[in-house]
Formats: sequence, C-alpha cells, structure tokens
Amino acid sequence: MALHHIDLAEGADLAGFRKAVRGLVSAGIAPDEVLWTADDAPLLSGASATLDVDAALPITLPRAVGTLVEAVVCHREPERYALLYRLIWRVLHGEREVLGFHSDPLIHRLALLEKAVRRDLHKMHAFLRFHEFPAADGGDRFVAFFEPDHFIIQAVAPFFVERFQSMDWSILTPVGSLHWDRNTLTVGPPAAMPDGMGADAFLAGWKRYYESTFNPARLNPVAMRAEMPKRYWAHMPEAESIPKMIREAPARVRSMIEREAAAPIRRNPDRAVAAMASSRPASLEDLNSIIRRSPSLVPGATQAVLGEGPQDAAIAFVGEQPGDQEDLQGRPFVGPAGQLLDRAMAEAGVERGAAYMTNAVKHFKFVLRGKRRIHQSPTTGEVKHYRWWLMEELRFVRPRLIVALGATAALALAGRKVSVLHERGPARFGDWNGFVTVHPSYLLRLPDEEQRSSAYGAFVDELRRARDLAGAPVT
Ligand code: URA
Repeated sequence: MALHHIDLAEGADLAGFRKAVRGLVSAGIAPDEVLWTADDAPLLSGASATLDVDAALPITLPRAVGTLVEAVVCHREPERYALLYRLIWRVLHGEREVLGFHSDPLIHRLALLEKAVRRDLHKMHAFLRFHEFPAADGGDRFVAFFEPDHFIIQAVAPFFVERFQSMDWSILTPVGSLHWDRNTLTVGPPAAMPDGMGADAFLAGWKRYYESTFNPARLNPVAMRAEMPKRYWAHMPEAESIPKMIREAPARVRSMIEREAAAPIRRNPDRAVAAMASSRPASLEDLNSIIRRSPSLVPGATQAVLGEGPQDAAIAFVGEQPGDQEDLQGRPFVGPAGQLLDRAMAEAGVERGAAYMTNAVKHFKFVLRGKRRIHQSPTTGEVKHYRWWLMEELRFVRPRLIVALGATAALALAGRKVSVLHERGPARFGDWNGFVTVHPSYLLRLPDEEQRSSAYGAFVDELRRARDLAGAPVT
C-alpha cells in the first residue's frame, strides 16, 4: 500500500490540516494510508506526495468536532493529526455521534489532548504579564514573555487583541511571537526572554495591589500551587512576593485576630482597605492608570471605564458596570440607561457635570448573541474583586453623599447584599453617607407604561432628596 505523506508546517497548522483533510476525503484515502508529519521531514520511503488537495470539495463536520480539531492541532503530540483524521473519517463514515462515546479509546485520547490545550490556554490568559518598555517612537510598548506547553500562540491571539486593543504589545514565546500595533497582528518567529524585563512602574503597582488583596487567613499553599504552578512564577512579578507572604501569613493572621478582639464593635466595615494604607496609590490619576492597565476579570471588554467628574464633587453616583456603549466610548453612563439617568438628574436639579459618576465594576461583562453583546450581571466575586478600586476612588473624591444605583452598587458599597426595594433611601456605607435607589435600567425594563412612569417619578423624587442631603449644586 502506497502511503500518502502529508507534511504540515511546524506548530499548529490548522489551515494546512483542513486543506489536507479535504483532499484526502475527496480522494477516499483512509487513515491507515496516510503518514502525517509536521516538521518539514524528508519524504519517507514508501510515501507518495501525489495528492491533489486543491481540487477537493469542502466537507461539513458537526460543530463539536470542529471545536475539538481547533484545540487538538495546538497540542505537541506528534500523532495529533493522525488521530484527528481517524476521528473525521469515522464521523464521515456513519459515526456522527462518536464524540459522545467517552469510553472509545480514540475519543478518550483526543479528550485528554483537548483538555491539556485548554488548560494551557487558561494559564496563558491568566498568568501572562506585560512589562513596559520604551519604544523607538518615544511611546510605550508592552512586552510579555511566556512559555506555553503547546502551540497555542495563534489560538490566544484574539483574546489579547480584544483585551489590549489600545496598546502596542508583543508576546514572545519559544514557539513563536505575536506583535500588535493597535491595528494589525503579526505572527513572528520564536523568541527568547528580552533583557531588562524588570520592575517598571506598572508592575510595581500591580505587585502592591496583589500583596494588598492577599488574605493570609485563607492561605492554602497547595491549592495556590495547583492553580498557579511554580514554573509560571518566573515571569510573574507578583510571584516574588509569594514566599514572603506565605512565611508571614501565620503572624499576620494572629495580629488580625488580636486587632479584631481589641476593636470597637461598630467599625468601618472596610478594614481591608484600611490595612492597605501603606500600598495605596498617591492620587486618583495613579489609581486610574493602574485600573486602566489591569486585565479585565471577564473576557472581551474593550477597556476599563473609569469614573468621571470633579474630584471635589459633593455627590457621587455609583452604577453597576459599563454597558455596551460605555465600553466602546470609555465613559460611564452614556448608553440608554445613562441617558435616562441624565434626564432624571436634570429634572431633579442635579447637575451631572458637578457629580462624580462611576461604577462598581470597571469592565463590561457580556455574552455574544450573533453580533449583539448582551449584558451579564457581575457575580458577587467579581464585585468584590473591583471593590478595592471603588473604595480607593471614593477616598480621593470624598463626596458628601454616595448614591448606589441598584443592587450591585449597594453590594459593593455596603459590603453586603442589600434589598433595594426594601432599603431604598438614606443609608450608611461604612463611614460614608449613602443613599440607595434603583438602577435606571430597572426603569427601562418595566413592561407597563403606567408602572414605568410612576417608578420614574419616584426615582426623580429620590434623586432630589439625595441632592438635598448632599447639598449638591442645584441646576
Ligand atoms: N449601567 C451602569 O451601571 N453603568 C454605566 O456606566 C452604564 C450603564
């Protein structure tokens, strides 16, 4: 039997594999008759290279098979293409449901390969850290070095392009490199770690943030190492702090317990923030620059949407998170809910330009439905993650009154779940004077015109009351 030799490009050659599969299937060549290599190997004896792949017809596969193929081609396993072609052959020859048979040895093996690639992708998304380097044009270029286990760099590219669209960056790895200039993505050759990948201002800020959010009472070194294996530490600035934090954790817990016992019963609930005093940013601008450059907790957001308004505002409004329009424009409350809020503020005599407007969560969380990005509420964990930023922001602005628009803002500000409909009105948020009211998008969602109009009237009344409590300028 003459073997057909298919030699694909080194790494993950998805396009080459697809093309070869079309040619092989059109020519009716079974898996046993194919020899796959992926490294420019010389033609092996007994192999023929006469396959006309250009004349081949497209083939249609179940979506789950396509997804599996996209992942498994990234694996380092030399047999990956042969295994995938076996799967495709079986699917096209009467076994369309074969992926559901987990005990089938081929399916089991492919599932393990897919899992390993997905884990590698997750690690790269989570543990890659950019360092700031001066660029030739006088601007900044962000460079990251990472050592993935598999050939995943093209697979991770969309994630980083979407996340860091407005930065110039390069990601260097021993299996290839990616370069983004805010417009075009270029895939380049493997690269080594550049000299001078050291402490820069952004990384120093990130390290401080990491140390300050570390909770010694919840230290679990085994889980920590399982989630963040030691071999990634070399390229993560915060990893330098880990041994010290682990060493100091028991003493920190003891001292927290002693302070807890000595403290008065009603205290500022935001003790974590107080404990961080030594690592706080020096100005709102510093804080904003850290927020702007921090990775989003949820994938897909275009940019962090920062607070807006005078730093000496008497009244601050806190929403949930940026929506679609806010994410694109980089400003809070500019979409439909923001327009409704503007109208209500104007009717209540609250001048928007004199108020500080911000959100509990700084990145837009959504799911894609076709081309539409559908808002998803943040989880309690996500709200907690962003709470530090919010508290720091308010520390700089020091408004006389903080208005929580809806349950997410109230949760972030009060540090506990708040029932907006039962607790609306004046409130305490730790040391702050607060006020709880509904979120403007709640008004937009009310189905009935009469209900909407009465709820809107109540909202305007509450804004008026909040304005009076804050002594905010009247328009
Ligand atoms: N909804 C919010 O909570 N915040 C915005 O900025 C916009 C819509």
